[in-house]
Amino acid sequence: MAKHNIKVCMGSSCFARGNLENLNFLENYIKENNLDAEIELVGGLCQDKCSTGPNIYIDDVLHSEMNEEKLKEILQTALV
Ligand code: FES
Repeated sequence: MAKHNIKVCMGSSCFARGNLENLNFLENYIKENNLDAEIELVGGLCQDKCSTGPNIYIDDVLHSEMNEEKLKEILQTALV
């Protein structure tokens, strides 16, 4: 299986809007489910889409207004 890439926008707007929590959640989720080999988690710079933040790119697809609930759903469906 190809490795999935999750890029969490760490620009100040997304960071303040919830990506700090989202990043913590992702780190824990990856650890708890032993997904280190399947998911590459990286931080990104502001993508000039702050108004729809917090933004997270999953396999280069932009997901806006992200929260733990939405992340969980994507992780459990799209990435398995
Ligand atoms: S801070 Fe994330 S798009 Fe600008």
